[in-house]
Amino acid sequence: MPYPDTITLTNPLDMHLHLRDGEMLHNIAKGSAKSFSGAIIMPNLVPPVSTKEDVTAYKARILEAIGDERFTPYMTLFFKPGYDRTFLESVKEEITAIKLYPAGITTNSEGGVSGFDVEELRPALEAMGELGIPLCVHGETNGFVMDREAEFVPIYEKLAAAFPKLKIIMEHITTKESVAALDRFENLYATITVHHLIITLDDVAGGMLRPHLFCKPIAKRPEDREALLKVALGAHPKVMFGSDSAPHPRHAKESCGCAAGVFTAPIALQLLTQLFEHHGAPLENLQKFISNTAQNIYGITPPKKRVILERKPFTVPQEYNGVVPMYAEENIDYTIKEIING
Ligand code: NCD
Ligand code: ZN
Repeated sequence: MPYPDTITLTNPLDMHLHLRDGEMLHNIAKGSAKSFSGAIIMPNLVPPVSTKEDVTAYKARILEAIGDERFTPYMTLFFKPGYDRTFLESVKEEITAIKLYPAGITTNSEGGVSGFDVEELRPALEAMGELGIPLCVHGETNGFVMDREAEFVPIYEKLAAAFPKLKIIMEHITTKESVAALDRFENLYATITVHHLIITLDDVAGGMLRPHLFCKPIAKRPEDREALLKVALGAHPKVMFGSDSAPHPRHAKESCGCAAGVFTAPIALQLLTQLFEHHGAPLENLQKFISNTAQNIYGITPPKKRVILERKPFTVPQEYNGVVPMYAEENIDYTIKEIING
């Protein structure tokens, strides 16, 4: 059944967002802050956000950049195996989660974890489980690019079994193997991007190379996309929307060494509405995917906001302040008509 011509999404949340810093932060943060109630903010700055001072100062810079928009930046730290209980207790009130990157796996992740030795990780991960701090994970090995995520699933399972109190969020999953792991462990959760629900590797590299669709993890096969669609459209209770919107300046994308990251934040809600409608998914499942499920999993109550979308073609701009979005200069089906705070 087609959706009504006007639909309302309540308190949208983006559970995986890159807001960057400095000029880029000022150029892009307001866009997310306008149409979302809050977002989990990734810590992969240079240097990464890894101390209490870093996180409070970064949050202040974000709040300054978004001005008077009603938006909660849910802050994260960049995981270091050396984090101990005393440190975690001291920083707990400032953060919503901690993000773990395998060393060197993606943009600005050089200081991440190498080897996943449970005993080495035990002090930090056990304390996080006890303090109720979720662990967000970029789950890829250093293997062959199409196999990296599937190869990481045994690591997710090892961590989930070793730390049963720890909530582990498999970030931006792209494979049927990760989807299958969700139901094997009570403490495994996932975020899914909008682009991985739409594209496969064919869209990135099957014809002319499309740098603005290149990201980590790389888009996979049609059967992987099917598995992702099934849990997103079906509002699986452990699956949340996280855009992984990752802006890079045009010159860093349109270059012989293209930076990884797709910029979707300004069109994510419109695209998701179009996608859920196209697949005949109930509107309430979209509402769960973009907010309610994340509230349940993280135990957060975002500021109230209603985003009213109307069925009216929207031509996606060529650029937002120097950053090229997905679907630049193409038409999408929905337009944001109004945003009501409160
Ligand atoms: C992200 C970035 O640019 O910070 N890039 C990406 O391709 N998704 C990092 C990340 O989340 O992997
Ligand atoms: Zn990311």
